[in-house]
Amino acid sequence: MERKSDISGFHKLPAKKRLEIVKRFADLTGEEAKLLEKTGALDGKTADMMIENVVGTTELPMGIATNFLINGKDYLIPMVIEEPSVVAAASYAAKLARPGGGFTASSDEPIMIGQVQLVGVKNPEKAARDIIAKKQELINYANTIDPCVLVKFGGGMKGIEARVISTPVGKMVIVHILVDCRDAMGANAVNTLAETLAPMLEDISGGKSRLKIISNLADRRLARAKAIWKKEVLEKASKGSFKGEDIVNGIIEAWAFAFSDPYRASTHNKGIMNGIDAVVVATGNDWRAIEAGAHTYASIRGRYTSLTKYSKDKDGNLVGEIEIPMAVGLVGGATKTHPIARVAVKILGVKTAKELSEVIASVGLAQNFAALRALATEGIQRGHMRLHARNIAVMAGATGNEVELVASKIVEEKKIRVDRAKEVLEEIRKK
Ligand code: MEV
Repeated sequence: MERKSDISGFHKLPAKKRLEIVKRFADLTGEEAKLLEKTGALDGKTADMMIENVVGTTELPMGIATNFLINGKDYLIPMVIEEPSVVAAASYAAKLARPGGGFTASSDEPIMIGQVQLVGVKNPEKAARDIIAKKQELINYANTIDPCVLVKFGGGMKGIEARVISTPVGKMVIVHILVDCRDAMGANAVNTLAETLAPMLEDISGGKSRLKIISNLADRRLARAKAIWKKEVLEKASKGSFKGEDIVNGIIEAWAFAFSDPYRASTHNKGIMNGIDAVVVATGNDWRAIEAGAHTYASIRGRYTSLTKYSKDKDGNLVGEIEIPMAVGLVGGATKTHPIARVAVKILGVKTAKELSEVIASVGLAQNFAALRALATEGIQRGHMRLHARNIAVMAGATGNEVELVASKIVEEKKIRVDRAKEVLEEIRKK
């Protein structure tokens, strides 16, 4: 089957039919498709190996965002999230981006930073210089023993930096080892290398090494995405309710608000992370690491600000851009042990961690665009409430067709509450 992600009416199909499409798109085996269909795909034994003191598993829905065209390639995006509207919004943003060519994404080499903290150093400035002078020796040593088998795959230690910081307990030398982690997220590799090099760093500096640990501010491993939303496409999508130019201006003003105000930037970036985390979780990656990196990067210039940027091109179309640290992997950890994560990676069809990082950045940008477009035009609640109403209907006990019937009624009445949903359900059942 041709890998085309703009599947019209995908959301209207029953789940079984959607899965059939995804199965064909990603060439899933019958077994892989079944894993998605059945609940409890993460069996007790596997779960017990993943973390400690396991007593069970929990589940979240996986939805598929459609329409994504990234660097000329079509993607279906698996998203795991508890919040309604997110998958629909991402798909919608990607659909509106297609006439402008979809997303153009790029990323840095997968370099992670490991930190070694040296304390009790008599002459910290000289120690930092001495460490830099021994740079090549340290790199050669790390790559010869290569404890995490990175060199074989084209990775390994690539650089070293040292600086002196002043802290409440005195000066410290902080060494950064720069490690190319290839398709790994890299925490294990980087931590192992930091521990391996620490004795040598102690010898050179005459100090004592304390912490040896990865930095989640993965600012050497940035992913970037850009998209152009044409003003006439935006106008048409609003069914003429808003002028294209007004939508473009509204989104730029919404971004400027987030750029300048941390209270807004927090929510603006939360919206970005709605999309990003959902793919990170689906692929079994470490979403806390991604969150930590994203928010620290958002304040890297000394003030918390927006992770995206919007402007106009010469034709007045909207240009959206994102730049974000993206430490995700395809090997090791849950990406390999969790059966659903493996299927999610197959659906994405990504071949490298770099490609995955570019896809995720594009989803983050799409999610942000969707939120800003809604906020700057009709407001967010209209779409939200419709989906929220379905949850309320389920909470009231509705099943099957009843869900849509109850949801429609409580939306129409603007009474999106469980007590009213229960009454409506009773009325429907009496009929
Ligand atoms: C809700 O989960 C996310 C939004 O609040 C993001 C935003 O305000 O930009 C809609």
